Amino acid sequence: MDCSHVQFRYVEALTPEVLEQLQQLFRLAAFWACDRQTEELATAIAHSKPVVTVWDGDRLIGFSRATSDGVYRATIWDVVIHPDYQGAGLGRKLVQTVLSHPHMSRVERVYLMTTHQQRFYERIGFETNETTTMVLFNQPVSPPVRLQETAGQPDGNWR
Ligand SMILES: CC(C)(COP(=O)(O)OP(=O)(O)OC[C@H]1O[C@@H](n2cnc3c(N)ncnc32)[C@H](O)[C@@H]1OP(=O)(O)O)[C@@H](O)C(=O)NCCC(=O)NCCS
Repeated sequence: MDCSHVQFRYVEALTPEVLEQLQQLFRLAAFWACDRQTEELATAIAHSKPVVTVWDGDRLIGFSRATSDGVYRATIWDVVIHPDYQGAGLGRKLVQTVLSHPHMSRVERVYLMTTHQQRFYERIGFETNETTTMVLFNQPVSPPVRLQETAGQPDGNWR
């Protein structure tokens, strides 16, 4: 498949129309993200950098995003290529585009969680890492520990 016309773009936010396309793409090809709602998705995107979209004309055919401190650690999320376009090197280029963004390119260690696609990530340079995996399934019910500004503390003490 000739995909030389396919475009990769860094974006900071998605229009409602593109968000709708992204939800369709997730429903089709991303089992972990197929129930994501518009508002939460927009929030996740707003807090991610870089965010990469992949386009065949005005058709969204790929997506990924990352969170990064810019220096030490970053994590890549939601890597997806539309099934019609898989196997043509676009997934590799998508991850390379994420990694080459200035917010990622100097980072010491880039993490990636995958359930089924270990072979793909190995092909593009990732290694299995069994020593650092723990997870907290957060319950989004109670607010976090409340922080109160201490009156009159010029050093901005919080308790
Ligand atoms: C995983 C995914 C992004 C790969 O995208 P893709 O465009 O098909 O991958 P590419 O064509 O760029 O493949 C790059 C290399 O990985 C290999 N590869 C891709 N998928 C593979 C798989 N499932 N098993 C083994 N090798 C694979 C390709 O053969 C190619 O090898 P090469 O170095 O010999 O050329 C795509 O299949 C996808 O979106 N899947 C559904 C969503 C998903 O599971 N995403 C990952 C979430 S962590």
